[in-house]
Amino acid sequence: MDIPSPRLNIEKLQNYKPNFGKSKINNLIRLSANESALGTSLNAIEALKFFANDLSRYPPQVSDELISAISKRYLLNKNKIILGNGSDELISILAQTFLNPNDEAIYTEFGFLQFPQAIAISGAKGVVANDINFTANVDNILSKINSKTKVIFLANPNNPTGTFLSKKEIISLHKSIPTNILLVYDAAYSEFVVNDDYMDGSELADEYDNVIMLRTFSKLHGLASLRLGWGYASENIIKNLMKVRGPFSINNAAIMAGIAALEDLEFQRQSVEHNLKWMAWFEKELKLLNLDFQSSITNFLLIKFPNNQKHSAQKAENYLASKGILVRGMKVYGLSNHLRVSIGTQEENIKFLNELKSFLENKK
Ligand SMILES: Cc1ncc(COP(=O)(O)O)c(C=O)c1O
Repeated sequence: MDIPSPRLNIEKLQNYKPNFGKSKINNLIRLSANESALGTSLNAIEALKFFANDLSRYPPQVSDELISAISKRYLLNKNKIILGNGSDELISILAQTFLNPNDEAIYTEFGFLQFPQAIAISGAKGVVANDINFTANVDNILSKINSKTKVIFLANPNNPTGTFLSKKEIISLHKSIPTNILLVYDAAYSEFVVNDDYMDGSELADEYDNVIMLRTFSKLHGLASLRLGWGYASENIIKNLMKVRGPFSINNAAIMAGIAALEDLEFQRQSVEHNLKWMAWFEKELKLLNLDFQSSITNFLLIKFPNNQKHSAQKAENYLASKGILVRGMKVYGLSNHLRVSIGTQEENIKFLNELKSFLENKK
């Protein structure tokens, strides 16, 4: 019997599979999704208390209030901001809006997985630009441009590597891209970055019509469960994305919590400080364990495991899971010797490290 079949490119796709663990285990330590170590701003939680009186009305299609709060917090032009149901939604609608089936879109070798996914769903061809030392490379990206190239997706800093391209490299990349190619500059982790030679992309999006910067409330602001992201681009790009985006894709809870989170500068400061402190601790401890890792400017680390049966990344992932600690296996990225670990609370980080030590000491 015939059954309805999806488009051919959808049939071949894999489902995105996060590692959130099995709900049977209580008190799981989740270091697998780069979420906020300090949870959510209490102001945001407080704002939600007034939320549940009446759920019968649709949210606004465009929340001026939240857009104004973003514009005020980040000193950006209100008219260039678009909200999304997580930046994931914006990545998807960018691909749907700008890619025809015969077009090509470039993404980097160990770039964020949603890029190839969104490109494949659109039906366009994804073209990989190789990394060098787990870092995106400007020359390799430029070498992949041809007359069919429509979009370049770049996460800076990148997930899962934690590495980044400097301001100088980004400016040089942008200068060399033809003006009809859209640069999607995903700066999801930019708020954790303290390096002077990093740029979040807002200046480029202010000045040029072929750049969109993407941001999220899921990381620093600790609102991953409410699904809230935003983009910053020319009014022409925003206008076209709004034709494709779901009309009510940002709900009222996300709007209220988002505004409160933006205003809580103290929570943001504490989160950045916590991250820097524990990132330095992780680096020191991993060196003592002789484990190789990528130096990271984000809230997670990509750790390499020995290429032997006893202490492989897969074995480490299983061992940690058996102790109630979830980390992200990297097979989907073609990095089967690696695990990605998010910075957690003090207690979580110490527990992780102790269990990691026990695993490595185990000679069996
Ligand atoms: C580079 C990058 N972009 C976008 C996202 C998605 O963020 P959101 O929760 O806003 O959809 C993530 C989440 O892990 C990410 O790592």
